[in-house]
Amino acid sequence: MKIAVVGTGYVGLVTGTCFSETGNHVTCVDINEAKINQMKAGKVPIYEPGLEELFHRNVAEGRLNFTTSLAEGIEGAKVIFLALPTPPGEDGSADLKYILQVANDLGPLLKEYTVIIDKSTVPVGTSELVKEAIAQKAQVPFDVVSNPEFLREGVAVEDFMKPDRVVIGTQSEKAKEVMAKLYAPLVRQGNPIIFMDERSAEMTKYAANAFLATKITFMNEIANLCELVGANVDDIRRGIGTDSRIGKRFLFAGIGYGGSCFPKDVQALAKTSEENNYQFHILDSVMKVNENQKTKLLPQVKNYFNNELVGKTIAIWGLAFKPYTDDIREAPALYNIDALLEAGCSIKAYDPEAMPNVQALLGNSIQFCKNPYEALEDADALMIVTEWPQFRTPDFDKMDSLLKNKVIFDGRNLYELSQMKELGYTYYSIGRQTIQS
Ligand code: UDX
Repeated sequence: MKIAVVGTGYVGLVTGTCFSETGNHVTCVDINEAKINQMKAGKVPIYEPGLEELFHRNVAEGRLNFTTSLAEGIEGAKVIFLALPTPPGEDGSADLKYILQVANDLGPLLKEYTVIIDKSTVPVGTSELVKEAIAQKAQVPFDVVSNPEFLREGVAVEDFMKPDRVVIGTQSEKAKEVMAKLYAPLVRQGNPIIFMDERSAEMTKYAANAFLATKITFMNEIANLCELVGANVDDIRRGIGTDSRIGKRFLFAGIGYGGSCFPKDVQALAKTSEENNYQFHILDSVMKVNENQKTKLLPQVKNYFNNELVGKTIAIWGLAFKPYTDDIREAPALYNIDALLEAGCSIKAYDPEAMPNVQALLGNSIQFCKNPYEALEDADALMIVTEWPQFRTPDFDKMDSLLKNKVIFDGRNLYELSQMKELGYTYYSIGRQTIQS
């Protein structure tokens, strides 16, 4: 099938590349000329495990192409994916200007029946707005389908190729047929394609992300309570996660969720509720709790240093909002860095992937290190913010020789309490008792 993908951000590029891998001819369209040129020159603009290999193979075999021209990109395309940004506006609602602009432009360019697919996370009712915008100038029949993505950064290729489910919102039999054919190679193992109407598909995406954000936040609150009553949140996680009704995943307490999706989507769903005169109480609490959770370790840092933070050097391990990505959007590390700098500390940071992005944002207000150990040299304390696997089994002897104080503030519960006790650390973590050396 000939496919066009408009918008080559994270979702668009993964979608385009993966559909070329299943044998389709894909043209990716973006208004950013520098990005298109970069891809034409064979460079993948984002870090996503497994993506480069698929990208290079399909470019080499002529199935994956790039252009800045919408007209050229959609030439002969049976389906057109819209994978455009929907940033939060000032009031928290998703801003649809990019999607509606492309929809306006598409109308006069369509030459035969085409399926236009909303891949972006968009508020309920958007597919109707897209339909109206296209219809104004379209001369041929078309359908607008809502097909939300559920890709996790870091495993997006795997999530795309082996989806738990595919959600397709359309009431058109013709569009259903096209979509079923397109996704057939990805659901061979029996994972379902779930058809529904457009509004329900749009809502499904928000419900999924808001539910997961709530699940994490619930555990974060249990963790906060565990600290007060002397229980261990890791045991609670195992104790409840084995109940198949609850499930094992997304129960890890920590210093808050971040990233480009959860914060934005929870906020947008709360806004949708407000617009419909419904107060979604849980979402309000989720946002409030997560805001506090991100800087939860700071009072403990202050306390440890008797409120004398001026001139202290804090090593930070992990800057990305989670491992296996260079994405720092809404990353808890940024909130902690801001507060620590404000309090007069110096920061020495290490992250395997995200340092260039943080440097672009913060310049040289913090020091970037070549490896985790360099960050510890002459540091007064270590704070762990992202659970990159390499931080899980560090050389503790080496750490001891570099850190000025044997103290770790761990926002991701990487170490066993018994181990920390044995090694003689003062160890603060989330939802577990503090180990005093
Ligand atoms: C999420 C959704 O999972 C995905 O389906 C959607 O399409 C986009 O948003 P992503 O933002 O890539 O994906 O990250 P995810 O792996 O879901 O983690 C989100 C945040 O939750 C991270 O900050 C992570 O550290 C945090 N998290 C996750 C926890 O704090 N505890 C957990 O148990 C799981």
